Amino acid sequence: MSSLEEPLGLDKLPSMNTIDRIQRFSSGACRPRVDNLGMGNCWIEGRICSTSNSCNEDDEEYTAETFPWKRQTRDLSQDNSFTQKTVTKGRKSMKFGMTDDSFSDSQSSPKCHTKDLQGLAYKFLNCIPKFVKIVEVGPRDGLQNEKNIVPTAVKIELIHRLASTGLSVIEVTSFVSPKWVPQLADAKDVMQAVNNLGSIRMPVLTPNLKGFEAAVAAGAREVAVFASASESFSKSNINCSIEESLARYRAVIRAAKQLSIPVRGYVSCVVGCPVEGPIPPSKVAYVAKELHDMGCFEISLGDTIGVGTPGSVVPMLLAVMAVVPIEKLAVHFHDTYGQSLPNILVSLQMGISIVDSSVAGLGGCPYAKGASGNVATEDVVYMLNGIGVKTNVDIGKLLLAGDFISSYLERPSTSKTAIALNRVTTDASNIPS
Ligand code: HMG
Ligand code: MG
Repeated sequence: MSSLEEPLGLDKLPSMNTIDRIQRFSSGACRPRVDNLGMGNCWIEGRICSTSNSCNEDDEEYTAETFPWKRQTRDLSQDNSFTQKTVTKGRKSMKFGMTDDSFSDSQSSPKCHTKDLQGLAYKFLNCIPKFVKIVEVGPRDGLQNEKNIVPTAVKIELIHRLASTGLSVIEVTSFVSPKWVPQLADAKDVMQAVNNLGSIRMPVLTPNLKGFEAAVAAGAREVAVFASASESFSKSNINCSIEESLARYRAVIRAAKQLSIPVRGYVSCVVGCPVEGPIPPSKVAYVAKELHDMGCFEISLGDTIGVGTPGSVVPMLLAVMAVVPIEKLAVHFHDTYGQSLPNILVSLQMGISIVDSSVAGLGGCPYAKGASGNVATEDVVYMLNGIGVKTNVDIGKLLLAGDFISSYLERPSTSKTAIALNRVTTDASNIPS
């Protein structure tokens, strides 16, 4: 067996500690201005950077005034859970995080001082929420793109397995036209079969009153409407303009209010559209505000085709945060360019605490050519565990749910975490959450 084929034990993971990673990240955090950078790149106003790629900012700049969206701040001096965070696999364990040693190791560099390092840690980690709500969208966003019809029983089994992981929200299906999305033609049967899953919230997509009524008849207690920031995508996805869709959703929300049914709102194509290219943040903010004002309790911002990077996601979030309260915002990244985790991390740093993801990285949109799967829930939970953010999700059970659907689809999971941990052992059930 070559070294490349050897099982990846956690004890063989790179020994880079958190401070090393932060320093590496921070050294490239500010880039010289480059005009016309395309969809993935966007100059973030207000960063004063030298040509040596390092920022001229001191710690004082990272105050509540600079980041007015900051909330649920973390006191690094008191919160030991971060420094103690471990990820264990069976008897093997590896410690991630800052220890006294890691601080003193870093001091060996003449330019680095403890205060600077603490400032760096504060700058990047203090603003991250302590708890993140994960909205699992695999059974809907994940499966809707599958060409071959997945049997209803498999969908139901997947939802049951996901429900056993501790996830508090699972989007289970869509009440859309079966001519448009044949894969979800069994919405009623799926909904009826999972209605008994206790306190887990199970929203379903409803594109109009017809879908809303069908969802309620099948027992749905929460629904989601989905608008777009791109006119072209709105037309191709739901066959109407943005304004027409907003009018439809007003009717859905009116009906939902009468039944006390909460409505989540999606905005698609928040960074780019397959037809129109880059989407201006002001357009995203407009649609998000409309959905919020009409009564959506939460607004999920979807990078439907996965073209965003932190360079384009941050300005988009800033525009939306100016008009919708941050605690009502969720992020929804597709991983086409492998940018979901950095995009999520920067969203958390801005104070977002709701993240959509899909088990095994399933997904894609049948009406967004080139869109790949959502960010894998396993990878999100692994990252959040690593930085000491609670999710209440048992990663071992999550891996088993991912294995289940990947085996059914006869396709490897796209979750890097699943691939790495499944190499260590096929029995993931003893990984603590
Ligand atoms: P349409 O063809 O314009 O609808 O489709 P219509 O009102 O003209 O009706 C045509 C037929 O559809 C009629 O049946 C209706 O009864 C029926 P017929 O008389 O021909 O037998 N119909 C329905 N049937 C079942 N359920 C319904 C329904 N409504 C009408 N709710 C429509 C308009 C919106 C229905 C259609 O375009 C549609 O279903 N689109 C959904 C497409 C979809 O699900 N796309 C994937 C969503 S993913 C996404 O948007 C992104 C997201 O993941 C976030 C992100 O990644 O960014 C959320
Ligand atoms: Mg999606």
